[in-house]
Amino acid sequence: MIPMLDLKKEFIEMQDEMINAVTDVLKSARYILGPNCTELEEKISAYNGVKHAVALASGTDALILSLKALGIGTGDEVITTPFTFFATVESIVTCGAVPVFADIDNVTMNITPEGILNKITNKTKAIIPVHIFGTPCNMPEIMKIAKQKNLYVVEDCAQSFGAEIDSIKTGAFGDTGCFSFYPSKNLGAFGDGGMVITNNSKIKDDLVSLRNHGSKITYVHDKVGFNSRLDDIQAAILLVKFKKIDIMNKLRYENAFYYNSLLSGAVVCPSLPENTKCVFHQYTIRSKNRDKIKETLEKNGIASVVYYPLPMHMQPALSGYGYNKGDLPIAEKTALEVLSLPIYPGLTKAEMKQIADIIISCVK
Ligand SMILES: Cc1ncc(COP(=O)(O)O)c(C=O)c1O
Repeated sequence: MIPMLDLKKEFIEMQDEMINAVTDVLKSARYILGPNCTELEEKISAYNGVKHAVALASGTDALILSLKALGIGTGDEVITTPFTFFATVESIVTCGAVPVFADIDNVTMNITPEGILNKITNKTKAIIPVHIFGTPCNMPEIMKIAKQKNLYVVEDCAQSFGAEIDSIKTGAFGDTGCFSFYPSKNLGAFGDGGMVITNNSKIKDDLVSLRNHGSKITYVHDKVGFNSRLDDIQAAILLVKFKKIDIMNKLRYENAFYYNSLLSGAVVCPSLPENTKCVFHQYTIRSKNRDKIKETLEKNGIASVVYYPLPMHMQPALSGYGYNKGDLPIAEKTALEVLSLPIYPGLTKAEMKQIADIIISCVK
């Protein structure tokens, strides 16, 4: 059996440190937004080279609260990708804004500066680029457009913790960068968690208030907010894992490099652009024989997952926005061909070779 991810193995390797960290929180009786949360905010803002970080209850909340803090609401249009996890779009709709989809690039599977430009109207207020699978979007160009057109940029970095373009971390380009600490993420907690990073002190103050029912002074509420506070137990776990994030991301990259050497020519492999550091939250191949490959891997006890089978503009919940099949052809074709393979840091070369041999046998 080769699973998609082996979180048990990861836990066993760091077990003593994890248990000590959690025990300390239990003894401290500071369970929500305690000292571990503060330390995590400090460490993550420094790591990403930004001034502030605000710990929240999930990555979805990081997106919603970012849009709220930027004043995005009813009637505003927000441009994003159709090829993402639903939460990206959910955040736009939750704020009362309208999601507008720009088709993706055939190589990176991310939205492109040109695609964004074509979708800008006088109602556009913001862009949410998603660094899908840990591959950075073209942020320098996207930021140029945002500046020219006076638009906000909220980066969805749920899958890109540690990724870089020209040595600048994803999340540090936009008005905010939004992270998810869902357990399967490159930096994952033992439950839900999220964070927003920003260089803007006003946005940071608003987020701090919004995560705590719109309150800065106890029992005085300046605005209607949310309950979106991070547990200190999760922050303690994340601090232990954070120490190893660069090593873990490097191992993912090395695995991707090895897979590429085995699989290129047989299927479309992820690209490794030179000026970017990809962190391979997923290693995603593309092939017309996708379903056959998936089935054969399964028969051999190997897990694989289709991220994502249905683009956002074709989701039943979003049918009211007037999109039709055929509107975003690259995203639609990609959804039919993608398959994500196990890529976690503990995966061995022998396991990757076994996976690659099966895939090659399917496409011969
Ligand atoms: C691209 C993307 N955006 C947003 C989210 C939402 O994060 P969370 O599950 O922490 O709410 C996720 C993760 O699940 C994601 O992959």
